[in-house]
Amino acid sequence: MVSEKVKTGKSGKYYSGHVSTYSDRYMEKEIPKYEVPKDGMPANAAYQLIHDELNLDGNPSLNLASFVTTWMEPEADKLIMESLNKNFIDHDEYPQTEEIHQRVVNMLGRLFNAPPQKTFLGTATIGSSEAVMLGGLSHKFSWRNRRKKQKKPYGKPNMVMGENTHTVWHKFARYFDVEPRFIALKPGKYTINAKDVEKLIDENTICVVTTIGTTFTGEADDIEGINKLLVKVKKKRGWNIGIHVDGASGAFIAPFVHKKLKWDFRLEQVKTINTSGHKYGLVYPGLGWLVFRDKANLPDDLVFNVNYLGGEMPTYTLNFSRGGGMVIAQYYNLIRMGKAGYTRIMKNMMETAQYLAGKIKKSGKFVMQSTPTLMPLITFQVKGKPGFSEYDLSDKLREHGWIVPAYSMPPKAESVVVMRVVMKENFSRDMADMFFRDLMDSYDALSKKVKKVRKREKKGSRVQGIC
Ligand SMILES: Cc1ncc(COP(=O)(O)O)c(C=O)c1O
Repeated sequence: MVSEKVKTGKSGKYYSGHVSTYSDRYMEKEIPKYEVPKDGMPANAAYQLIHDELNLDGNPSLNLASFVTTWMEPEADKLIMESLNKNFIDHDEYPQTEEIHQRVVNMLGRLFNAPPQKTFLGTATIGSSEAVMLGGLSHKFSWRNRRKKQKKPYGKPNMVMGENTHTVWHKFARYFDVEPRFIALKPGKYTINAKDVEKLIDENTICVVTTIGTTFTGEADDIEGINKLLVKVKKKRGWNIGIHVDGASGAFIAPFVHKKLKWDFRLEQVKTINTSGHKYGLVYPGLGWLVFRDKANLPDDLVFNVNYLGGEMPTYTLNFSRGGGMVIAQYYNLIRMGKAGYTRIMKNMMETAQYLAGKIKKSGKFVMQSTPTLMPLITFQVKGKPGFSEYDLSDKLREHGWIVPAYSMPPKAESVVVMRVVMKENFSRDMADMFFRDLMDSYDALSKKVKKVRKREKKGSRVQGIC
């Protein structure tokens, strides 16, 4: 409530502090939308109007579409609130935030098995997308520097990747003028291997992009096989082609539940890895990480030194100012849970995903496209031709509050449309049961509607199908 005096036409003066939020006159006017209003409004009215409008958003806890974290512990929330007013990039003003940032980079360097070194190299970013751009640039610059040294032309860089890579890689190639050489997929084959890569590389290949935890099915490319090929090529032809591992979602799962899987810096040609702190790093949106194998893979031309915030400060991010809260929150998670805590959470999610996948498969109504073996993620299709599509089912589930996307696979496999359910930390066994109940209800409701329409059509009515 505000206590300023407010004049009203007929009833004279009164204190707005005497008026409840919803009886305030601001509630009966249109909310300013596209032009800054001439006058402002009391804080409680502005808050309530915006708060109510945001109720139209989906419920983050029922959002099974995205990998991005929707819940953190109250202590993490508190730390985030306490650092909301700190600009992460002002290392000189907030040296402890920078110290914590460096601690996390070192933890991740070790977690991803980078070769032993005094200080591990990497940076926080706003998400995996920024990390991918920087990772790609480091490969482009390293390749160019090698070519310059060899006095060879460096005007036609290319990169090799599967059509299963995230859109951000297509963006990288276009924004930074690198020829993308895509490996086509086909129905049933949604990852890439050494054989696919071998046909496309040459001396101008700046790197091969591989993914652990693909966006489409949650599977991993054969990174170990691709590494073997590139080591062989390096020895035989002298082309030192590095691998970037896009571990947006997989890099925080594999170290805890797939310890034997070799996908990281244990492989000689893996030079850079990105991951999203805001996915299975279990931090709210606004955090990614890029980790370098070692200093040799961070070209000098990527680093800028600025001194206008006090002190000499090296920076190699695309973004400058940003909040420091999520970096702090990542550190909180790492020391709060340790490896044992992360492992328990990841195993819980995997078990819930396997439980739900089992129920979906057993229902007999769906064809599984991928089961949760690497990642806590399920993709499936509607079986047969029931008269409605995965898109209809996705819409129907929305009526129950669940957000589950339906999408087509990448080029050459686009005839396959799947639905994807992603488990997150706060998706319990009980939620899985409720989701499965609603999935079956939605399926049955659509089936009934289709039957009704078909019956009417049979009778000669002109009513068209609804789905
Ligand atoms: C494999 C992969 N790479 C990159 C990204 C982009 O990550 P971010 O949303 O953190 O920028 C995603 C997002 O889902 C992804 O799945």
